[in-house]
Parts: sequence; structure tokens; C-alpha cells
Amino acid sequence: MSPPEPLKRGYDVDENAIRFSNYFHVLRELVHLSNGWLPLVPAFETKYALGDHIHDDARAVAKVRRRLYELRHPSDYPGAPGGELRGLLDRMAGTDDPAEYLAIAYGQAKPALARAIEVHLDTLDPVSDEPSERLLGQVLARQRRHVSELGPTTPDAAVAIEDIGALPIDLKAPPRELRILPPLDEPARDEFIEVTPDGDPFLTEALYVNDPDENHVPVEAEEQRHFFHALMDAELCAAELMARNSHEHPEMPWDFHVDMARQTWDEVRHARIHQILMPTELGCEWGDYPIGFSYFKSIYALDLLDRLALFNGTSEQKAMWRHSHRRKVLIERGQETVAKVFDYLLADEVPHVHNGVRWGTYLLDGDEGAYRARVRQLREGLDRTGAPAASSAG
Ligand SMILES: [Fe+2]
Ligand SMILES: [Fe+2]
Repeated sequence: MSPPEPLKRGYDVDENAIRFSNYFHVLRELVHLSNGWLPLVPAFETKYALGDHIHDDARAVAKVRRRLYELRHPSDYPGAPGGELRGLLDRMAGTDDPAEYLAIAYGQAKPALARAIEVHLDTLDPVSDEPSERLLGQVLARQRRHVSELGPTTPDAAVAIEDIGALPIDLKAPPRELRILPPLDEPARDEFIEVTPDGDPFLTEALYVNDPDENHVPVEAEEQRHFFHALMDAELCAAELMARNSHEHPEMPWDFHVDMARQTWDEVRHARIHQILMPTELGCEWGDYPIGFSYFKSIYALDLLDRLALFNGTSEQKAMWRHSHRRKVLIERGQETVAKVFDYLLADEVPHVHNGVRWGTYLLDGDEGAYRARVRQLREGLDRTGAPAASSAG
């Protein structure tokens, strides 16, 4: 065995913590603003990628914060960003449309983050600072993937910051305030999607009732086409509601944002499943029928507690029953692929319902009984399909 290489030494613990603080600020701002803009991005493919990246970055924030806690024990306070970083974050927060936001987030912030992490990985001591090396390797790979998926072909070199990890952090300053975007009127869809006040007139109430004698599983080809098209839109609405729950409530604990990010990703993945299922199994595609936003608007108008109680605690909870019912009927009919989709939708729904319980209870000072009472109370105002007005709730 050859003698070991001498230790590289790398960064001081303080310098290291400052670098992680800078990453924390960039990643948190990215999660916050991407959540705000996701509903306003029209293209499905971009929405899908954003949902995935938000989920990656929300988990990265949790891990970076954890590393800060280890390095600055017992405090994980990331301080406030210094002037130069503030400039970048303010530029990113100050945009007025999603394309402009994406250009800065993916043309400046994410490339700068990746560059700083490369410097960090080149400099750190891989033995004494192995925990940082592991974490940064994962974050770097993800940032590179994000930029390759949504970034410009040539990053914005004109405003590039050499090494954002080395920027000063103000540990005595109060936490940075995050900008909350104006409330949504309605979400954006691909330009080829027709949006009407009532959505697709083909859809009947019987598709959405929970009564076992009355629920109608779509079995005919034509009704399945309309049904899955509406379901894809309902998944997008679900992703958009969760993204906005997170964006509009920066005061919530970080675990809430991670849970919302996971659900946002799940819902855009569900939309993608339907987008694939339509042309491959059903003979239609996204854009074939009109959609409507009345259900989205009825939930979005509520405060956070009631959104959780009605959407997660009621819609999603009742969708579980319908999914398992649909699955049984479709298996009997020999539509195995379509039936299998419901098996996974159902599995993913369990934690989504739990998000309602967990964070609704949190908002009611830990009183789960009070949350359940609120769910019961709100359910009394619903029609047989579980919607305040007839709409495609999944
Ligand atoms: Fe879903
Ligand atoms: Fe869901």
C-alpha cells in the first residue's frame, strides 16, 4: 500500500459556511420564485421541468441548511446576502413575466451556482470535508441538468459573478424578505389549448361522484378521451395550487415547502402520464378538447388552511376512492395499462392527503381534531361531485 497523499486542507470552516450560506440564498429564492411563476408558464414541457427542478432545489435547501447547522453549530442561520448577491437576487425577483424570470434563473443564477460549486469542489479537502463533497456533488449534477433542460443555449456571460460562494454574508442582518407575486387570475396553458368558462361540455357529473352505485367509470373510447384530457388539466391545476401555496406563504417552515414541492412534482408527473397515455392508448392528444378553470378558481380563492382542507383533505381524498374503483373496472375490461396508471395515482395520493392533515394541523396550533372539523364543515358546502360548482376535479 502506497503512503497516503497529504491532506489538501481546503477551506476554513467559516469560509465553508459562508459559501453554503450563499448557496442557500440562491436556492431558496429559486424555489420561491419558480413556485410563483410555474402557473404562468404556458408550455406544458416547461411547467413539467420547473416542477421537477423546484423539488430538487427544495430538498437541496434542506440539506444545505443542515450542513450550515453542522458547520455553525448550533445555528443554521444563513445570515443575509451581501450587496453583490442581493443584486442578482433582486434582478431575479424583479421580473414581470415568466420568460424574463426563466432567462435570469437559468441564464445567470443557476450557472453561477454551478460555477461556485465547481470551485468549491476543486478547493475543499475531500477527506476532512467529505460531507460537503458528497452534498455538493449531488447539487452540482442537478444544477447542470436543470440548465441543460431549461437554460439558454449560451449563458448570460455579461452579468456573470465569478464565484458567488466567496461573496460576503451579513450574519447580523435580519432575514431577506421574499417578493410575493400578485395573485393569479388564472393559470396559463399552451397557446393551442382552448379555455372556456365551463370547460369540456362532454364531461358528465356521473364521472366524479363517489357513490358506488352512481359513479360511472369511463369505458367507451370517446368518453375515455375526454376524461383523460380533463384529468391532465386537473393534474396541472393541482401542481399550480401547491406551487402557489408554497410561494404565497414564505413564513411557513421549510418542511412545508419541501412537501409542497414534492406534490407539485408528483402532479406534473401525473399530467405527463396522461399526456403520454392519450396518444398511445386512447387516440387523442393534449389540446383536443376545451378546458375550464372554475374549480381551480374556487380553491385558489380560499386561504391556506381552507385550500388544504378542501383540496388535499377532500378532493384528493375522494379521488383515491374513485381511482381504485376505476382501476378495478378497467382491469376487468382488459385495459391493463390504463388501469395501472390509476394504481400509481392512488399511491401518490396518500401523501398528498397527508399534506393536508400535517399542515392544516400545524396552522391550527397542532390541533388535528380542529383540522378534521374544518374539513367536515367545508364538505357540507359541496355538491355530489365534491366541487363547489360542477367541474372536472379528477
Ligand atoms: Fe395527481
Ligand atoms: Fe394529488
